[in-house]
Amino acid sequence: MIHRHYISKLTSNISAPMHILLKNTIMIGYHDLGRREMKSNMLKKLRCPKCKNQIIIPPNTELIDAEIACKKGHVWNMEGEILSCVYPPISEEDKRWIDEYDELAPKYDDLVKQYDDFLGADISSGREDLLKFIPKKSSVSILDVCIGTAANFEALAPHIRKNEPRFDLYGIDLSTGMLQVSKSKMNQLKLPVALLHASVFNMPFRKSQFDLVIHTGGINTFSDISEALKEMLRVAKPEGTILVIDEGLSPKVRGTDRGKAIVEANALFAAKPPLEQIPEKAKDVEVDYIYNGTFYQLVFKK
Ligand SMILES: C[S@@+](CC[C@H](N)C(=O)[O-])C[C@H]1O[C@@H](n2cnc3c(N)ncnc32)[C@H](O)[C@@H]1O
Repeated sequence: MIHRHYISKLTSNISAPMHILLKNTIMIGYHDLGRREMKSNMLKKLRCPKCKNQIIIPPNTELIDAEIACKKGHVWNMEGEILSCVYPPISEEDKRWIDEYDELAPKYDDLVKQYDDFLGADISSGREDLLKFIPKKSSVSILDVCIGTAANFEALAPHIRKNEPRFDLYGIDLSTGMLQVSKSKMNQLKLPVALLHASVFNMPFRKSQFDLVIHTGGINTFSDISEALKEMLRVAKPEGTILVIDEGLSPKVRGTDRGKAIVEANALFAAKPPLEQIPEKAKDVEVDYIYNGTFYQLVFKK
């Protein structure tokens, strides 16, 4: 959504096999409330990103700053409450973006506010509209792919807090800087969200785990959009919803003076919804435009 090399331009235009090696004791990134249940929920969802085998944690283990392993003995680190499961190493192309996000992380939310002025939109309140994609059932699991600063869960927090036992919340991202911001924000808001350092191209989750998979703001710059969409579909439950939002002007705005000025300030707005890259087995594909016709919204079902 926000990328550094556009910012100056943008702002100038506006005002062991089966072992666990436990080190210390800490939790996994959940707030105290409901943390045990959520922890066991998360462990059921995980798979080793290297060999795809289950990650095993003996029952009654207080999980913590730790190394955990899959059946084949591939070990993954949990540091500062965040489980790191990045495999394979990221490409140079993706790393370039991630380095930028690490640097931008502390000011990211402020920069998004500048986007609002520039676009004549209110992205923060617009995130509350995600509510309509949350299924009405007694328990709901939601994954925010590329969670960034957890702005989506922040916007949904009042609703989530009212119904807390219903929600099982997860976020992955490759930027440790962004994950740190997410962590402190979720702790402050007392929202139990499991945070994982992982890549969208090979998520450390078993298939069919989430009722709703959200991705906002990163896909336009991914090195492999098809693979990312395939992964989002894989981890969604059957009948689960995948929601993808990123810069891309609506056909109505594209040819206008305003549209041209927006694309000149930030070329990412010339992007079109990646319909061709949606996996064939996806169902009920819908495209819409939001935020004053400046972002595409792609919704599909598994
Ligand atoms: C523009 S930010 C959007 C953050 C958040 N979703 C939002 O709506 O504000 C894009 C995010 O995608 C993350 N990201 C980029 N490539 C990724 C990848 N291959 N795997 C996981 N996260 C990635 C970045 O670290 C960054 O936090």
